[in-house]
This record gives sequence, structure tokens and C-alpha cells, in this order.
Amino acid sequence: MKGIYLNENKIGVSTLLNMKRKGEKIAMVTAYDYPTALLADNAGVDIILVGDSVGMVVLGYKSTVPVTLEEIIHHSKAVVRGVSRAMVISDMPYLSYQVSVEEAMRNAGRLIKETGVEAVKIEGGKEMANIVEALVKKLGIPVMGHIGLTPQRAAISNGYKLQGKDAKSAKEIIEDAFALEEAGAFAILFEFTAAEVAKIITEKLSIPTIGIGSGPYCDGQVLVLHDILGLYKSVPKFAKKYVDLNEIISNALKTYVEDVRSCRFPAKEHTFYMKEGEYKKLVELVEMK
Ligand code: KIV
Repeated sequence: MKGIYLNENKIGVSTLLNMKRKGEKIAMVTAYDYPTALLADNAGVDIILVGDSVGMVVLGYKSTVPVTLEEIIHHSKAVVRGVSRAMVISDMPYLSYQVSVEEAMRNAGRLIKETGVEAVKIEGGKEMANIVEALVKKLGIPVMGHIGLTPQRAAISNGYKLQGKDAKSAKEIIEDAFALEEAGAFAILFEFTAAEVAKIITEKLSIPTIGIGSGPYCDGQVLVLHDILGLYKSVPKFAKKYVDLNEIISNALKTYVEDVRSCRFPAKEHTFYMKEGEYKKLVELVEMK
């Protein structure tokens, strides 16, 4: 595990609060393994989230619900090994924090203790305030709240729809944000929330807001790495694909298959031979038998 307390450049809760005060935007991205964590950290990303989206984009599940604590621990450990500057946050998976304060404390404590991540993220608003408070005040674990669209509850909220479209539901999201700040959350992530709602909350809260599909007014933005890189054909309409790696990787693999079939690979430069004269000796030795 890295010595995070010895690294002066490491982004922490106070760095993020200062960034909000100075009006500096926070860049956050998901990562689930060592090489992509290394790339994100070297690119200057401020926060790396080991999101439960790992279930869909890496493990092939249909939603985030089947993701287990053990899976998040496994991926978080790999990410932490690749990071020296960014703050690393792990998502608490479905059923690892909702049942009781005790279970939430035990599982969040395991994430921090066994992986070396610096904070956890949990979905939910006022109904989660007691859990946030226990994690922050009893265990000293920094907690990022996650409201607006909460994918772990997509089944009950009619799927993946824009949140806070009308004044009544918008007011509830605002109340959730206040409850989380009051409970001690150090930041709040808004997923697929109307831009005006995110704007009001960003102006009113003293902790940073991070948006995904929630407009330009948040203190920071987060995207799923696979959407940025275009690893799948389709991306959500609020995401921006910066490169089409799906096409680049598919073409590279097709060319490799063709090269193997047509004996173009391995070529001379990929082939290594025995020391001069040794082949002849070997043939003699083999023929003696
Ligand atoms: O798991 C995830 O990828 C998330 C996104 C909202 C960033 O929580």
C-alpha cells in the first residue's frame, strides 16, 4: 500500500474544498485497474472513482446491483497501486451499506483498510444521512454522497431518466444535498440532474459538487472512463467520447488475426535464434537418440 500521508502532492479533502473556494474545476474519472489508473493519474485527473459501474463496463453485468464488496476491493487495490497524486474513492456496492449503520461501518472500514483508497461514495439522500454521519464521525472516513439518478435504485425510480425536471422533485434533491452536507459528506455527486438544480445546489453548498449529465455549473465533472475512450459502441447522451478505441482496438485485433493466418507475424524482428553453431550441435544430439 502506498504511503499516502508522506506524499505532499496527494489530493485530499482540503485540496478539493480549496479548489471550490478558488473556483478551480475538479476533474474526476472512473478507473478499475492498474494501467488505466496510472494513465488517469499521469493525465492530471484530481479524483479517480472505482465505481460500481465496473459491474457493467468491466464485468459484463446488466446493472450495478450484482457488484460485490469483494469485487470492489479487488479493483480498488489495483487502482491504488497505479496512483500517486489523485484522490481515490471506492463506490460502496449495493447492499453493503443500506441495511444497518453497523454493516455500513464494517464494510466502509474494510474498503479503507484493505485497499488504501481515501474515501467512499454512497448513493442516497436524507435517508442515508445517519450512515454518512456514522462513517464520518465514528470512523473518520470521508464520504462522497451520490444523488439525482441513483443507479442502484433504478428499478424503483423507473430507469435512467433525467432527475429534478419539475420544481417539486427538484426541491427534494436540494433537501437531500443539504442533509448530506449537514451529515458531514465532503462532496456530492449529481447524476443526470437538471442543470438548474445542480446550479442552485453548487451555489448554496460549501462542499464541492461533481456532476455527470448535470450541466456545466457543478464544481467538477465525472465521466466513466469507457465512455471517454469509446470502448463500447454507444455512450450515454450526456457523455463525451474523446477517442474511438473500439474501432482502433477492433482493427488492431483483426489485423493481428490476419497476420497470424498469413504468417506475416511473427516476422524476422520478432524471432530469436540459438547461438552460432548450437543448432548443428543440437541436431546431432537429437539424432543420436
Ligand atoms: O459507478 C460509477 O461509474 C458512478 C458514476 C456516476 C461516475 O458512480
